[in-house]
Amino acid sequence: MKSIETKYMEERERTLRGLAGLSRRDFLKVSTAAVGATALHGVFNPHSFQPVDVASAATVDPAGKVEPFRFAYISDSHLYSKDLNDRFVNGLMRAVDDVNALDPQPDFVFYGGDLAQLGQPQELELGAQILKNLKAPVRMMVGEHDWYLDLGEKWRSLFGDDRYTFEHKGVQFVTLNSVIEEDFWTERNLSPMERMKTVAGLDNHGQRPFTVGAEQRAWLAQQLEKVPSDKPLIVFSHSPLYKIYKNWNFWTDDAEEVQAILKRFANVVVIHGHTHQVLTNRIGNIHFHGLLSTAWPWPYAPQGLPPLTVQMGRPDPFNPNDGCGDGMVQVHADGLVDKVYALWNRNPVTVSRRYTLSGGKEDRPAAPLLASF
Ligand SMILES: [Fe+2]
Ligand SMILES: [Fe+2]
Repeated sequence: MKSIETKYMEERERTLRGLAGLSRRDFLKVSTAAVGATALHGVFNPHSFQPVDVASAATVDPAGKVEPFRFAYISDSHLYSKDLNDRFVNGLMRAVDDVNALDPQPDFVFYGGDLAQLGQPQELELGAQILKNLKAPVRMMVGEHDWYLDLGEKWRSLFGDDRYTFEHKGVQFVTLNSVIEEDFWTERNLSPMERMKTVAGLDNHGQRPFTVGAEQRAWLAQQLEKVPSDKPLIVFSHSPLYKIYKNWNFWTDDAEEVQAILKRFANVVVIHGHTHQVLTNRIGNIHFHGLLSTAWPWPYAPQGLPPLTVQMGRPDPFNPNDGCGDGMVQVHADGLVDKVYALWNRNPVTVSRRYTLSGGKEDRPAAPLLASF
């Protein structure tokens, strides 16, 4: 008997083969029909690789210095080696297919951290190998699951620096390592794997909270020194750069100090991984958006949920991929973004620039269509 995964992969192969034979015009027709069918039934997308058209929503601000563009994201795949768990491997492959099916291709793909589950070389290598199949260039960020076995040695050897800046079409980008913890392991004489497993637990109180840390904050301030305050800024951090729920480390302990460095900029977007859910917040000039995971959705924390967050319906326990996904970020001329959560098996949720800019008064995303389970 074939497993569900095997059946899914076969079905996916068939569909992708079929799509490859279509012209672009026909492909758009097919995807439009599929989206229409989804809207009609109001329930779910049987496949997740229909392109989400947000490019047409781009606002052109004549004063803007940014040429609107979009990038895709994939995050939190938590890979074990394939012989232990292939569900998460298939999740990441599905996201790669989603992004590769986008036409036109995004300018780049951002990976939001937690590529590995326990930071092991074979997990990180497997992830790197799968991500190589992406057609667009990939930018990487580190998560705590990638880091705490060898404190980043293997990750850096595969992907380079864990913090960096770059410029793209008039937007200044910064990628941070926000999962730095004070040394809790030396005194307790923990092995590298004991340290890794301590950090990997959601509510494991044996660890310290995440920080960006004084040294990296100084680096950030120095990197931004020459960037004018009216230049749009997009910051990537694995943990949210604000405080949601400490017991689960949905939290960056020096968030306020990082926010203070970003305060002089007119428009800042912070995009984070780690929370595995639809999560949107705004603190002053900073617009925050979380990323979906390709492995599992976390429940919403029992306290501290920001009022701007649009809650997704709780996942269907009978569907292992429900609540997971990938997505897209449309960058507008003013540097603010439409954030598209391409939830697998559900309609995509778009959290628009107008929604966060108006403090939730305008363009509120539709409520989830499936009841909570
Ligand atoms: Fe994660
Ligand atoms: Fe994480």
